[in-house]
Amino acid sequence: MNFLEERIIKDGKVKPNNVLKVDSFLNHQMDISLMEEIGREFRRRFSDKQITKVLTIEASGIGIACFVAKEFGVPMVFAKKSHSINIDSEVYIAQVESFTHKNINNIVVSKQFITAEDRVLIIDDFLANGCALQGLIGITKSAGATVEGIGIVIEKGFQIGGQIIRNLGIQLESLAIVDAMDAETGTVTFREQ
Ligand code: G4P
Repeated sequence: MNFLEERIIKDGKVKPNNVLKVDSFLNHQMDISLMEEIGREFRRRFSDKQITKVLTIEASGIGIACFVAKEFGVPMVFAKKSHSINIDSEVYIAQVESFTHKNINNIVVSKQFITAEDRVLIIDDFLANGCALQGLIGITKSAGATVEGIGIVIEKGFQIGGQIIRNLGIQLESLAIVDAMDAETGTVTFREQ
């Protein structure tokens, strides 16, 4: 079991409807030593790539992506969720459907901050259905930049997102892949990696 899987077992809480609560260390209160370790681990896993930008989406991805960007010594850019229908021509835009929240957001990134020369590492906290990631991949491609890889902290292996992204041929590294959860017993089953 790796450091993240151990932490999920120790402090994660399994809720009904296959929701894993990790807000005591990952996406509400954040354990900064753990964030540093996550940053170092993604640096190690993508050490053969010449990354120039780390890209994520607000809100929960931001804190994690900061630590990854620091390890690579590059800027971190986050896509903003926009409710505005007046999107200007200075931004790249993608539509992201949230199955959890049952809504659709536009996500936008200023054209200033991702350019054709960029080699992008996409980072997020959760991968479920993969809609957020597909939006971030779309924005990177609109800029003419290259997706060098995707780093996810927790992948829900029983949802479709991981398979969709792997089928695109992109290097996807998930620190923990949860294959099953049981709210009654509180057990979490990880995929052997
Ligand atoms: P997708 O992007 O992979 O398609 O995922 P989905 O729409 O299903 O998930 C929507 C939101 O719910 C995402 O955050 C995602 O991180 C989060 N989420 C999905 N499954 C879990 C889970 O088991 N536990 C927790 N804690 N979160 C989960 P978001 O709406 O983008 O919100 P935020 O980043 O602003 O917090």
